Amino acid sequence: MLIRSRAVLAFNASMLIVLSSLAPAHASQSYQVPDDQQLVQGRELWLENCETCHGCGIADAPIPMQPGEWRFRLAKGKTVLYRHAIEGFIGPDYSMMPARGGNDALTDEQVKLAVDYIVLTGPNKLDSNEEVNNDSTTN
Ligand code: HEC
Repeated sequence: MLIRSRAVLAFNASMLIVLSSLAPAHASQSYQVPDDQQLVQGRELWLENCETCHGCGIADAPIPMQPGEWRFRLAKGKTVLYRHAIEGFIGPDYSMMPARGGNDALTDEQVKLAVDYIVLTGPNKLDSNEEVNNDSTTN
């Protein structure tokens, strides 16, 4: 059941990317979905600066395609995740996210694009400052 719902979430995330590339003008949810070009840029930045650790969990870096590793992080909200990626962050287990992934040459905007890419390839779209919708309507 859990595995199944995770698969559904991952599927939703990939659909989100497909949808955002088909109709970026309609992406007006609470979370601003990056347009095509921003996703492409984010992906390049991710591959160059973030994937070394986050791709396979080096130094306990959370892996985007592992929903369980991101759920509580997404709950912090977009602003906090951006800040932690830009300024660096030490987690409760003393694993360290280096400021700007260790590349001082990256601008804030570039780091944000990479975070957006991580989040959109991950289990959920990042719902910045709001609670995740509850599914009470389905019951
Ligand atoms: C040297 C390894 C390393 C690199 C390179 C790296 N990260 Fe991280 N990152 C980590 C680790 C480890 C954590 C988990 C810290 C913790 O919560 O214990 C983390 C956590 C994060 C988080 C979650 C922060 C939170 O508050 O939960 C974000 C967002 C993030 N990284 C984004 C990025 C981005 C964007 C890049 C590339 C620009 C990047 N990281 C590059 C190791 C890395």
